[in-house]
Amino acid sequence: TWTMAGFRDLEIARIRKQVGDGKVICGLSGGVDSSVAAKLIHDAIGDQLTCIFVDPGILRAGEADEVVKTFRDRFNIRLVHRDASDLFLGELAGVTDPEVKRKTIGRLFIEVFEQEAAKLGGAQFLAQGTLYPDVIESVSFNGGPSVTIKSHHNVGGLPERMNMELVEPLRELFKDEVRALGREIGVPEHIVGRHPFPGPGLAIRIPGDITREKLDLLRKVDSIYLEEIRKAGLYDEIWQAFAVLLPVRTVGVMGDDRTYDQACALRAVTSTDGMTAEVYPFTFEFLNRVAGRIVNEVRGINRVTYDITSKPPGTIEWE
Ligand code: XMP
Repeated sequence: TWTMAGFRDLEIARIRKQVGDGKVICGLSGGVDSSVAAKLIHDAIGDQLTCIFVDPGILRAGEADEVVKTFRDRFNIRLVHRDASDLFLGELAGVTDPEVKRKTIGRLFIEVFEQEAAKLGGAQFLAQGTLYPDVIESVSFNGGPSVTIKSHHNVGGLPERMNMELVEPLRELFKDEVRALGREIGVPEHIVGRHPFPGPGLAIRIPGDITREKLDLLRKVDSIYLEEIRKAGLYDEIWQAFAVLLPVRTVGVMGDDRTYDQACALRAVTSTDGMTAEVYPFTFEFLNRVAGRIVNEVRGINRVTYDITSKPPGTIEWE
């Protein structure tokens, strides 16, 4: 009979056979897939693996620290942590078009990753957390309809350019199986159970141009929202929940003073694959509590809205 422990053992044997005594490089993002792939490969070949974590400066609060703590300190995996926030935010300055944001971010990820890989003296193998649906999607994508709604940059051009052989231990698995495998091999629950997070990160949750100040504001709003969702025990019922910083200032009143601050939107959806999505039906009491905390605790935000658009016709992200 098929078990996750059996699959793990089989994959470990396959990785060892493929890699021999070669070196493997793996890009870590903090997400479920790359985390599980990295831990599994490390279980198989130990220090022949080096992970590269490029911090683009557009992650949520505390995420970069958590990646370093978990992978370097706890799992003892060789980890290069490159803080590339100055580079990313510099190149993104003044960029307002969502597709240009995505392309800029995708290009920079590849450039920085290549630089760091070169510093390591290169490697024969590149590990990726490609899942079965990614394999299917990239096939149908090439032969399929020519309308690109949003270009993703998870799989794109890296292996060909770097002339490396791919190690893809998750390519037969669906997301829920990757989570089960992650639990089996001891990846912490807060990573394994995490909502999907897009490669372009908070940059596509700030319509208009991106600045450090806006990112800081959004991180504060997002943390409060997610903290309340976890406290209410709703996190696992939701596919994705996040805040969006709106490029709109509105008039408000605070004590005896008039405010003229920014508005934000909260989004939460249920979904099975991200292709379609329904709005999560929070109680009014919950939304009221979150909105109250946000306007009281985050200086610079004086209005909170809840996005009640399903997909289609809306998309999950605002950009
Ligand atoms: P949309 O907004 O298209 O999102 O309904 C569907 C799912 O894809 C994620 N998403 C992205 N993921 N790079 C990514 O890695 C991207 O450019 C990107 N855009 C959207 C989104 O978070 C949701 O899970």
